[in-house]
Amino acid sequence: MNTNGSATSKLIVFVLVMFLIAGGIVYALGPAKNQGYAPIQPIPFSHKLHAGKYGIDCRYCHYSVERSRHATVPPENVCMNCHRFVKTDSPHIKNLTEHFNQGKPIAWIKVHDLPEFTYFDHKRHIARGVQCNMCHGEVPDMERIKQFAPLTMGWCVNCHRQPQYNAPTTCDTCHR
Ligand code: HEC
Ligand code: HEC
Ligand code: HEC
Ligand code: HEC
Ligand code: HEC
Repeated sequence: MNTNGSATSKLIVFVLVMFLIAGGIVYALGPAKNQGYAPIQPIPFSHKLHAGKYGIDCRYCHYSVERSRHATVPPENVCMNCHRFVKTDSPHIKNLTEHFNQGKPIAWIKVHDLPEFTYFDHKRHIARGVQCNMCHGEVPDMERIKQFAPLTMGWCVNCHRQPQYNAPTTCDTCHR
């Protein structure tokens, strides 16, 4: 009776472990990682309004995208160029202003996040004329920003292989 019970629980543990390993492998090789991820942000900032309706250039806010690896999310002073005057009665703008006045950055939730062991560089892509929408989709239509591309290795390499780009595909391009 006792031996039987422990054999059963061992089997249960074994099955659970196999599920975890299988899940890990499926996750690693799977077609997409977090594609479509669109977390609710601490302030409901709308790209559809700012980049779409008002046509503010991506680079006005993501100003490091041509100069560095990272595009970075704009600091509050960029928002305050307008929101010192615009819609100051809105509770969201009051919240924004409070963060700015206290020098306390808004805790935006990161949407895109490649694993540590990969290397990506915005500047090189922009310099070769690869447009934001090829990797981020139609951002000016997005009320809430979402991860448009799968961001898998296959996705990166497929584009690098295209003859018009002829970009490098050696492993150390993206793993260094
Ligand atoms: C008025 C400023 C502003 C403009 C203009 C703007 N953005 Fe943003 N962008 C932000 C802010 C703030 C965030 C972080 C909050 C959020 O995710 O909504 C962000 C987030 C993003 C993200 C997700 C970052 C992450 O966490 O992975 C992408 C991608 C992005 N923007 C692309 C664009 C593109 C492409 C354009 C032009 C079509 C653009 N943005 C125009 C302010 C701006
Ligand atoms: C070749 C594909 C590609 C293009 C073109 C591209 N991005 Fe990105 N973008 C990415 C990837 C991949 C990440 C995630 C990087 C990471 O996690 O390290 C990212 C992340 C971001 C982020 C989050 C902050 C960061 O740097 O990690 C912002 C903001 C962003 N992109 C804005 C833009 C804007 C604006 C443009 C156009 C001017 C643009 N991107 C063009 C692929 C691209
Ligand atoms: C170039 C000017 C400009 C910049 C820069 C700008 N905004 Fe705006 N924002 C606007 C305009 C215009 C509106 C629409 C106002 C209206 O509906 O009357 C708006 C509306 C908003 C709203 C909606 C407010 C409400 O309650 O309806 C939020 C939230 C917001 N902006 C956040 C931000 C954040 C965060 C940043 C910085 C990342 C930013 N904005 C940068 C011009 C700007
Ligand atoms: C839409 C096409 C496209 C996609 C998608 C794309 N790339 Fe690229 N990549 C390019 C082009 C074009 C170049 C520029 C090659 C050059 O400068 O000669 C490049 C260059 C690079 C470089 C610089 C190479 C060097 O020699 O320094 C790195 C690193 C890189 N890409 C990584 C990535 C990673 C990682 C991804 C996926 C997350 C990715 N790329 C997705 C088109 C793309
Ligand atoms: C153009 C960029 C690029 C090139 C070239 C590239 N990789 Fe990757 N690789 C990535 C990205 C992005 C990831 C993370 C996303 C994923 O796991 O699909 C990754 C993930 C991996 C992983 C982890 C698998 C996993 O899913 O956890 C291994 C192993 C790997 N690459 C090996 C290689 C080898 C070997 C080469 C050369 C034959 C190579 N890579 C070339 C971009 C690249």
